[in-house]
Amino acid sequence: MAVLQERRPMVAGNWKMNTTDAEAGDLARETVRALGDIAGTDVDVVLCPPFVSLTTVYETIAGSPLLLGAQTLNAAPKGAYTGEVSWTMLRGLCTHVIVGHSERRTYYHETDEDVNKKTLAALDAGLTPIACVGERLEQREAGQAHAYVAGQVRALLDGVAPGAIREVCIAYEPLWAIGTGRSADGPVAREVAALIRGVARELCGEGAEGMRVLYGGSVTAANAAEFAAQPDIDGALVGGASLDAAAFAAITRAFV
Ligand code: PGA
Repeated sequence: MAVLQERRPMVAGNWKMNTTDAEAGDLARETVRALGDIAGTDVDVVLCPPFVSLTTVYETIAGSPLLLGAQTLNAAPKGAYTGEVSWTMLRGLCTHVIVGHSERRTYYHETDEDVNKKTLAALDAGLTPIACVGERLEQREAGQAHAYVAGQVRALLDGVAPGAIREVCIAYEPLWAIGTGRSADGPVAREVAALIRGVARELCGEGAEGMRVLYGGSVTAANAAEFAAQPDIDGALVGGASLDAAAFAAITRAFV
């Protein structure tokens, strides 16, 4: 009894460690202006500013259909974790949170187990996790990309209830494509997106048809249509180009 699942596209802007608070407010305002007409109906648009500007962006986009996401979270509710931000602090402010971005995995040594804990904590808090997976160039060249990404997906979904899988979003971001200007080809990204959904289906059942899979890694206004044309790709996680409202709007419109 397969139920036809409509997956509304999602485009998320990961501003990373860019933008002062004033710049974040301006960028949010420009993005609302550029996308307010389609956000929320044709596409989910999520802005992920630095932690210190979450409140500014929250206030700036209030009343618009744009959504707010954090760039990571701590899976503990509170406590002696200097510099960390918990899901209890994010809940009520954000609707989304990026977990396991490759920069967190590489520079801050987040493991698959950490990413799993964060994914479960986000779901418990009612936040949509945008969980990132992706292989390194050596792994792709050695023909290990699929096995590696499948392992990351299995790890991050461990313990996710079948009923919650629709609330999960997974971004396929090959490391060699992030910030390099060298994006994956559409068909290559599609192959991995289909693999990701297959693993989710195997673990969590039919609900995986409702789970969104995004592509990320050097997405630009010029190449967005190539990813949008792939049936298994439901949107994009955009880094550099999300810092330019016009470019981000053009990317987003490609998915509508
Ligand atoms: P990029 O970053 O678009 O600048 O390559 C993508 C990401 O890291 O999410």
